[in-house]
Amino acid sequence: MCEKTIQNPPNTIAIDGPAASGKSTIGNLIANKLGYISLDTGIMYRAVAFKAVQEDVDVLDGEAVSDLAEQISIDIRPSQEDDGRQFDVIIDGVDRSWDIRSPEVNQVVSEVSVYPRVRNAMTHLQREIAKNGKIVMIGRDIGTVVLPDAEMKIYLEASVQVRAQRRYIEELARGKKVCLDEIAESLRHRDEIDSGRAVAPLRPAEDAVVINTDDMTVFEVVEFVMDLINLR
Ligand code: CDP
Ligand code: CDP
Repeated sequence: MCEKTIQNPPNTIAIDGPAASGKSTIGNLIANKLGYISLDTGIMYRAVAFKAVQEDVDVLDGEAVSDLAEQISIDIRPSQEDDGRQFDVIIDGVDRSWDIRSPEVNQVVSEVSVYPRVRNAMTHLQREIAKNGKIVMIGRDIGTVVLPDAEMKIYLEASVQVRAQRRYIEELARGKKVCLDEIAESLRHRDEIDSGRAVAPLRPAEDAVVINTDDMTVFEVVEFVMDLINLR
C-alpha cells in the first residue's frame, strides 16, 4: 500500500504512559514514518539511576542523586547493533545500553526520578533537544510539563497484566530467565511512585488522546495515531 503524504503534521508529538504501554515502540515507528527524531526520556532517568547504583549512592539521598544528575553526560544515538536495542546509550563515555535496563536499575529508577533537581536537569536537556521541532518525545510528563505546547499529545494505557506479559515476552526473546509475577510487581512499584510523586506525576495531559492498547497490536496503535495525524 502507498503511504499518503501528510499535510501539515504536528511539529512536536508527546507520547506518555506507564511502563510497557508501548510508548517507545509506537513513538519510534511514528517518528520513522514522519522522518522525525524520537527521544525516549526514560533513558535519561535510567542513566541517572544507573550512575547512582554504579557509584553506590544511596537513592534516598536526594542531594547526592541530584548532584549526579547535574554532572552526568548522556549521549543517545540511533544504534547499528543487531541485538534488539534501538539506541546506543553512552554514559560518561561508556556504552551502557543494556546496563540501564537491569533489574537493579528498574528497582530504583522511580525513586531517583522524584527529586525536583533531577527532573529540572533532565527537563532542561529534553527541551534543548526538542527546540528545533520534528520530534516525537516519549516519557511520563512530556505532555504535562516538558512540552505543554506539543501539537499532539498521546497517552497510552494498558492493564498491568498485559504490560507485564509484553515485558516477559521481550525478556524471554533476549534469552533472560524471568518471572512474570516479578515483572508485574516491578511495574506496579514504578507505576505507584511515578503516579504519586509531587513533581511531574504520571498522568494524561488534559488535551491528550488516551488510547487503551490492551486489545490492540502495535500495528493497530500506529495506524490509529497516524489517522489522528492525518485528520488534523
Ligand atoms: O521503558 P519503561 O516504560 O519501562 O520505563 P522508562 O520509560 O525507561 O522510564 C523509567 C523510569 O523513568 C520511569 O518509571 C519513571 O520513574 C522515570 N521517568 C520519568 O520520571 N519521567 C519521564 N519523562 C520518563 C521516565
Ligand atoms: O516504552 P514502553 O515501556 O511504554 O513500552 P515498549 O518498550 O515500547 O514495550 C512494549 C512492548 O510491548 C514491545 O515489545 C511491543 O512490541 C509490545 N506491544 C506494544 O508495545 N503495543 C501493543 N499494542 C502490543 C504489544
